[in-house]
Amino acid sequence: MPENKILIINGPNLDKIGQRDSAIYGVEPLSEVNILLEREATKIDLTLIFQQFNHEGDIIESIHNASAKYDGLVINAGGFSHTSVAIHDALEICKIPKIEVHLSNVLNREEFRTNSIISKACNGSVIGMGKVGYLAALFAIKQMLTN
Ligand code: DQA
Repeated sequence: MPENKILIINGPNLDKIGQRDSAIYGVEPLSEVNILLEREATKIDLTLIFQQFNHEGDIIESIHNASAKYDGLVINAGGFSHTSVAIHDALEICKIPKIEVHLSNVLNREEFRTNSIISKACNGSVIGMGKVGYLAALFAIKQMLTN
């Protein structure tokens, strides 16, 4: 079976998990989360490409380039999830399977986090499962690519 390449984009401040509120975002730095994801992804024949950006335009350009290079996209757009019509629009243009992830349960936090603008442009969302949410997203994309 050919290997599928999946792009994982983490947005602003996700380079700071491990230093942010650990009760919400966990104790591990993003680099360690990525090591876990890479190990698990190998088992289901997925090759992962990790990117992290603090700037909205960088995220948009990465999404623009994604469909030509990758088979699927996992995105945690951080705070931009709740504000960025532009990231929503970029995701709408991008025709590969796309899953949104939030480490925390954004539905039981502040009111301003309860609406994700980008959800409508994704095939699915995983919230409140911590780092395991990325794994769930990878399994979901694997299924979409297989069926
Ligand atoms: C987050 C939730 C967002 O509301 C927040 O701004 C983040 C992280 C999450 O993974 O739970 O930076 O996307």
